[in-house]
Amino acid sequence: MGDIKKIGVMTGGGDCPGLNAVIRAVVRTAILKYGVEVVGVRSGYRGLYLGDFVPLDLDAISGILPIGGTILNSSNKDNLFQYPFEEDGKTVYRDVSDVGMENLKKAGIDAMIIIGGDGTLTSGRDYARKGLPVVGVPKTIDNDLACTDYTFGFDTAIGIASEALDRLHTTAASHSRIMVLEVMGRYAGWIALASGIAGGADAILIPEIPYDIQKVADRLKQRRDRGRNFSIVVVAEGAKSITGEIHVSKVIENSPDPIRLGGIGNKIADELEQLVGLEARATILGHIQRGGTPTAHDRILSTRYGTAAVELLMAGKYGNMVALKGDDMTYASLEDVIGKNKGVDPDGELVRMAKGIGIAFGD
Ligand code: F6P
Repeated sequence: MGDIKKIGVMTGGGDCPGLNAVIRAVVRTAILKYGVEVVGVRSGYRGLYLGDFVPLDLDAISGILPIGGTILNSSNKDNLFQYPFEEDGKTVYRDVSDVGMENLKKAGIDAMIIIGGDGTLTSGRDYARKGLPVVGVPKTIDNDLACTDYTFGFDTAIGIASEALDRLHTTAASHSRIMVLEVMGRYAGWIALASGIAGGADAILIPEIPYDIQKVADRLKQRRDRGRNFSIVVVAEGAKSITGEIHVSKVIENSPDPIRLGGIGNKIADELEQLVGLEARATILGHIQRGGTPTAHDRILSTRYGTAAVELLMAGKYGNMVALKGDDMTYASLEDVIGKNKGVDPDGELVRMAKGIGIAFGD
């Protein structure tokens, strides 16, 4: 423990409610419990490359607990192990990770806490392999990171999506429509499943259960025949039909995962309008799910993660990610976390329960 005098902290990847709460917990625990200094690395790995560092004392983090986004800014590009340069009109990639190591050394930073999802933590693991003392903190509204039960930000996202569903219910009923809500989640259906259950959806379409649109339509027709004049459908942005196609909205060069999903909600609404014979409208909730203040649950989880990350570093347990298992704060090797998508179990209790209360999944 005696070797660490200054800790760096960085947020990478897409932002997420609760990032500031993690930063605050890191700074408070480091200073108040261990008498260790903290420095923020701005804008993810770009800041590491540029040496864009900011001292974080107790004043710097005062008042940030309930605030969304990240005071350190973030970036979901800038992989320093494959950094893009323009040369003769072409993009070439070089490993500039040593520049980051040098910058940390110059600033006297002994260890890093890296808060991010799979892409950010992949570079965290690669820095750990280079010998940098690293501890990761799992961040994503998608809740799709392996080795942890829940990521912070997920609870806030499903709260926002559930509220959207409550609002869609009243307008759906007034106009006798099918309302389709497209939610985020990348290749996992956690946000769709949880918000669909909480928001009383009639159908939930997730990547883990390929859907047959005719089967979804048949269930909505049965509902109409029982006298229900409207229906609510939640579709995950990564949902796929039984024929297997997914909806890519754009491709972002230099991002660890260049594919951006989105747009399937419009297709589902058009198809259901035709097949069910009720007017349909789609709402794409988008980044609203990521913005704004974290729920109380996420503030507590973020604070636990931030504190546990400092404790793990101070105990010399480098190369790990803090993790929640049941109600226990524990940790897992970054080597075991990376590259695994934690999807919804199609045969799990949550899906079986949802099917048992009549929610259609299109299978
Ligand atoms: O991983 C979080 C997330 O919000 C996903 O749900 C979504 O697919 C993606 O990020 C959107 O990324 P961007 O902010 O680059 O549009």
